[in-house]
Amino acid sequence: MTHFSVHTVTCWDEPVDCRIVAMTEQGWSSWPVAEDTQEGRLLQRAREDGEFAAKKGQTLLLHCGCDTSPRLLVIGLGEQQALSVDIWRQAGALAVSQLRKKKLSRYLFECDTFAAESIGDVADALLDGVMLEAYRYTRYKKPEETEPQEIVCILSGIDEELLGDVQATVAQREQISRGVWFARDLVNEPSNVKTPDYLAEQAWQIAGQTGMKCTILGPAELKRQGFGALLAVAQGSICEPRLICLDYRGGNDEDAPVVLVGKGVTFDSGGISLKPGEGMDMMKMDMAGGAAVLATLSVVARLKLPINVVGVVPAVENMPSDRATRPGDIVTSLSGKTIEILNTDAEGRLILADALTWAAQYKPEVMIDLATLTGACIIALGHHSSAVVGNDEPLIAALREAGDAAGQPIWPLPLFDGYREQIKSQVADVKNIGGRPAGTITAAAFLNRFTEEQRWAHLDIAGTAWEEKGKPGQPVGGTGVGVRALVEFLKKRCAE
Ligand code: BES
Ligand code: MN
Ligand code: ZN
Repeated sequence: MTHFSVHTVTCWDEPVDCRIVAMTEQGWSSWPVAEDTQEGRLLQRAREDGEFAAKKGQTLLLHCGCDTSPRLLVIGLGEQQALSVDIWRQAGALAVSQLRKKKLSRYLFECDTFAAESIGDVADALLDGVMLEAYRYTRYKKPEETEPQEIVCILSGIDEELLGDVQATVAQREQISRGVWFARDLVNEPSNVKTPDYLAEQAWQIAGQTGMKCTILGPAELKRQGFGALLAVAQGSICEPRLICLDYRGGNDEDAPVVLVGKGVTFDSGGISLKPGEGMDMMKMDMAGGAAVLATLSVVARLKLPINVVGVVPAVENMPSDRATRPGDIVTSLSGKTIEILNTDAEGRLILADALTWAAQYKPEVMIDLATLTGACIIALGHHSSAVVGNDEPLIAALREAGDAAGQPIWPLPLFDGYREQIKSQVADVKNIGGRPAGTITAAAFLNRFTEEQRWAHLDIAGTAWEEKGKPGQPVGGTGVGVRALVEFLKKRCAE
């Protein structure tokens, strides 16, 4: 991974590879490029020639030959009236995507505000975009094939009296972004390396670094406690299952924790209900919910947020074998409810059922699960939004708000009683598939059978956890979806 560092300063005189300024269609709010300089004239020419109008997403790279910065990159922000955090974030990502192609390392952003935003919000959003784009998964590539070895990001133009505050904001953002990188690394890691035990090991390390409590249950303990649904998924694989729990206590002892539960299927072959071969490699990402939970806990602990948060990740591999669960098998879950497993590819809800049941011992204030749960979610919402289904409207509203703030929207689906009918079994308390109609909702209805006593929301991230083509801020592979939204959600809860 590229070495990344950030400096937040009032002004900067040392040499950089490129100076970066943002501009709206209406022009500047202040000073950055004087008309009587070389770059001022070049920019003016580009505008007159109609080559650059500062439209959203437009960029202009000028070689101006000045000693401390041989280049100037101008980023278009579009209409001044329409400026938003999203646009600033995109500007940061766009700048890095332009410069990294040229293997440039030292970027000097000259921060500026245009409309209502504060300079702290601008620096925060810019850095968010910068760090989302700076990430690449290079663990198995030779260094010379990878892009810049080092990125130094300088955020300048911060007024002296605001410097301390902005530096604090930026330091937080850096921690959050490093959490996103960590989640992406986990998702991108291949399944031959990323076993359930590997995930447990990662959680253990985070706990060691941050002083959190970490509990890991292996197969013997899971069996003893009666995790029948989780074990039914795991039994076809040579990899032992793990139940991973990180317990962060930043709030008062008596405060009920927010409990986060993340699906951790390290590879989903479908089991005996085997998936088609094409695209099956992508199913290494089926632990993205678990990755988001581990990463969120690591960020929360590093930021020392004054809140109690528990993260639970059921980690298994779903494989076919002579020991694997068969379609038609009936198992008894940790809750005591019996489940008819009619499709072994609907495995996420099985491990979550037991994890959600187990997590209830923490007497959560609210419970949120994240899972790459259904292909149907991609049919419903595509890749632009995660789905939320739950039994608590204020919780759903808060999650949606946090998703919007993170630029990763979350959209609600209903949970009417009719959907619950679809998962009634002839022979057990519940069955693990609800037929083709409303697959995302019937999966949630299944989970709700195990969260009836809780204030609970389920996020289906099947469409948003993986980026296929790559775009600024989101390179090909794991997206780290959930981390920024959850941290936002938890920060907001601290403030209340
Ligand atoms: N992990 C998959 C869902 C998935 C699909 C995630 C595509 C990301 C991209 C899940 O375990 C699964 O296989 N779901 C089945 C459920 C069905 C058998 C009821 C599905 O969606 O087809
Ligand atoms: Mn599956
Ligand atoms: Zn799955």
